[in-house]
Amino acid sequence: MCPIDDSDAFETAAEAPLSVRASVGAMAARSAPYLDGLNPSQRQAVETLDGPVLMLAGAGTGKTRALTARIAHLLFTGAARPNEILAVTFTNKAAREMKERVGRIMGETVEGMPWLGTFHAICVRLLRRHAELVGLKSNFTILDTDDQIRLLKQLIASANIDEKRWPARQLAGLIDHWKNRAWTPEAR
Ligand SMILES: Nc1ncnc2c1ncn2[C@@H]1O[C@H](COP(=O)(O)OP(=O)(O)OP(=O)(O)O)[C@@H](O)[C@H]1O
Ligand SMILES: [Mg+2]
Repeated sequence: MCPIDDSDAFETAAEAPLSVRASVGAMAARSAPYLDGLNPSQRQAVETLDGPVLMLAGAGTGKTRALTARIAHLLFTGAARPNEILAVTFTNKAAREMKERVGRIMGETVEGMPWLGTFHAICVRLLRRHAELVGLKSNFTILDTDDQIRLLKQLIASANIDEKRWPARQLAGLIDHWKNRAWTPEAR
């Protein structure tokens, strides 16, 4: 996992790198190109920056295009900095697509958005940042199901526990159950 670093996001619009400021200025001067070609509904969704906006539309009708234009609008108008925009997707593919599209609109002058990603990626980033609150180090390892079972089998063997009585999968299910209730080993 990449180390947490906010330095890629500029602090205030006034402190933005010259290249960004120049590009913002140029963009403002010739009216934002990301608005071109949007239909009236998309344009309304893009330009409504105060309060929540719900876009409900069928497959392939231009939701992502409006969403990426809205992010561009937030950045170009100075309403938000790249590290102040939380954009959560369900799949890696959608996150990649969003990043590519925003990158294409913004050009190379704006650094990547640290809070654009899948909910798994965003949540693990938050967890690493605040790992100490749950007694972990920020470089904690995430074990997939196979790793979990392998580790439990090793622990069962080294503790001389009868694996027939306490199969690894059953123990894994028990631990999952405890974790879902936020029970720690100390609490049991
Ligand atoms: N106003 C528009 N005029 C012309 N083409 C558009 C417009 N809005 C979107 N498109 C194009 O239509 C295609 C689908 O747009 P987009 O990917 O934004 O839709 P979507 O609703 O997010 O789709 P999906 O449901 O698959 O996620 C893209 O090629 C996009 O460039
Ligand atoms: Mg889409």
